[in-house]
Amino acid sequence: MSNNMLDDISEVFFSREQLAEMTKRIGSEISRDFADKNLLMVSVLKGSVVFMADLMRNITIPCRIDFITAASYGAGTSSSGNVDITKDLSEDVKGYDILIVEDILDSGNTLQKLSDFLMTKNPSSITICTLLDKPSRRSPDVKISAKYIGAEVRDEFVVGYGLDYNQKYRNLPFIGILKPEAIENNK
Ligand code: IMP
Ligand code: MG
Repeated sequence: MSNNMLDDISEVFFSREQLAEMTKRIGSEISRDFADKNLLMVSVLKGSVVFMADLMRNITIPCRIDFITAASYGAGTSSSGNVDITKDLSEDVKGYDILIVEDILDSGNTLQKLSDFLMTKNPSSITICTLLDKPSRRSPDVKISAKYIGAEVRDEFVVGYGLDYNQKYRNLPFIGILKPEAIENNK
C-alpha cells in the first residue's frame, strides 16, 4: 500500500500559488483596516497554524499573536454544537483588537462559542478571519460572520494547508478533496 498522501487526493481545490495570493490579499486588507488599532491575532489550533504563519508575514503593521484551542465533541466530518476551550490564551486581551484566525467556517458553532468566550475577557473588539467559508452549512442559531474570507467553498470535506481528516493531511501544501477510499482507510 502507498504511503504517499498525494495518492489520497482526488482533486486540488486551491494550489500553493492560489493560497499565497489569498494570504497576500487578506494581509493587505488587515494591514489597512487595523492601521490605527491594537492588533492581536488569535490562531485557533490546530487547523489555522499554516494559514496563520503565512498571513502574519503578509501583515505590515505591528501585531501580537496568541493561540487558543477549541474542541468540538465528536469525531468525523462535522462538528457538534458542544464546544470546549481546552487551551486558553496566554495573555490579557484588554485594550486589544482581536482578530480570530480560523481555517474554515462550517456550521459556525466553534467560532460562535469562541467569540462569546473571548468577549467575556473585554477586548476592544473582535473580528473574524477565515481561510475558507462554507456558507451552505451554517447553523441557523449562529450569529457571527467573517469579515475576511480567503474563499467560499461548496459543501465538500477538504484537507491540507492545516486542515485535517482525523489529524492527518495537515502538512499538504495545497488544499484538496479526499478520495472516498481514503476516508474509509483513515476512519
Ligand atoms: P464548525 O464549528 O462546524 O464551524 O467547524 C469548524 C471546524 O470544523 C473547523 O475549524 C475545522 O477544524 C473543522 N472542519 C469543518 N469543515 C472541514 C473540512 O472540510 N475539512 C477539515 N476540517 C473541517
Ligand atoms: Mg479547526
